Amino acid sequence: MTKRAFSAFKPTGHLTLGNLLGAIMPAVRLQDEADCVYAVADLHALTVRHDPDRLRARTLEAATLLLACGLDRSLVYIQSRVPAHTELAYLLESTAYFGEMRRMIQFKEKSAGQEEVRLSLLTYPALMAADILLHRVDLVPVGEDQRQHVELTRDLALRFNRLYGQTFTVPEAVHPRLAARVMDLTMPTAKMGKSDGSVAGTIYLLDPPADVRHKIMRAVTDSGTEVRHDPRDKPGVSNLLTLLAACSGRPIDSFAHQTYGALKRETADAVVETLRPVQERYAELSADPAELARTLAAGAAGAVERTADLMVAARRAIGVL
Ligand code: TYM
Repeated sequence: MTKRAFSAFKPTGHLTLGNLLGAIMPAVRLQDEADCVYAVADLHALTVRHDPDRLRARTLEAATLLLACGLDRSLVYIQSRVPAHTELAYLLESTAYFGEMRRMIQFKEKSAGQEEVRLSLLTYPALMAADILLHRVDLVPVGEDQRQHVELTRDLALRFNRLYGQTFTVPEAVHPRLAARVMDLTMPTAKMGKSDGSVAGTIYLLDPPADVRHKIMRAVTDSGTEVRHDPRDKPGVSNLLTLLAACSGRPIDSFAHQTYGALKRETADAVVETLRPVQERYAELSADPAELARTLAAGAAGAVERTADLMVAARRAIGVL
């Protein structure tokens, strides 16, 4: 039977090269073997301070970018347009425990030292579990940082099935072999992120080529001069080698650069060439907003239709139908 896949992207900022290599490119490849659905998780962006107009703009930008990156053989939609996500999230909040939510690494990191922690930041993994379980998927292409949330999703699915009868498919996370955790260029021990990385160390998918080159040429490298892949002792150089390998499609050990400068130049070329077709396609799609709106509306309608049965089954099982 054809496998099914789902993943989502949170529009808390502009999409990055980490998103592309860690999840979008694997999601594009999965289209060859699985029936795929991908969403822009705008409700997830409400978990931290946000500006409504900026969120609207970034949601559309992210959806357009997903299509521009090649997810055009999948159903692509905006999460908030499909009310079943929040409905199922509540049933899963009623399956999950406070203790397991509080222990999530991302919750601990994002709430640390904050005075006003939104309650939705704590319950976020229940909404993410709902996103996935709603679509009865087998595979969830994500970067390394989402591993724990997918594990929790599996736990919730198994618990719900045990308590109320077989309802959910238990999904599995799939991580890319390379680039499951792209690091910040200026702080190679921290993840490259939309909101948690530094602007100088983060490559955004819509960065002009000159900015991409500038950021990579200024990337922090390590002491010494030897170019070798060793994430523990040489995190900066290893991150560049990973970017180069992932963007060129060649294995890491096929590169033999004599200097950090040469490695940076080739990495910059490979990243610029990877982003070029995405940016060209983004410009074309953005030039026809009516067509884009139709595509996303059709995606949402498709998602409503595909998830109706599951929602009925889940409500029946738990006793609210
Ligand atoms: P988000 O929006 O932070 O990231 C989207 C995807 O990109 C991956 N990613 C990375 N991969 C490698 N290196 C990096 N530096 C890097 N930064 C981000 C993430 O692992 C993710 O796969 N909670 C999710 C969004 C979400 C979701 C879902 C994902 C909501 N519902 C259902 C899967 C299934 C998030 O915040 O990802």
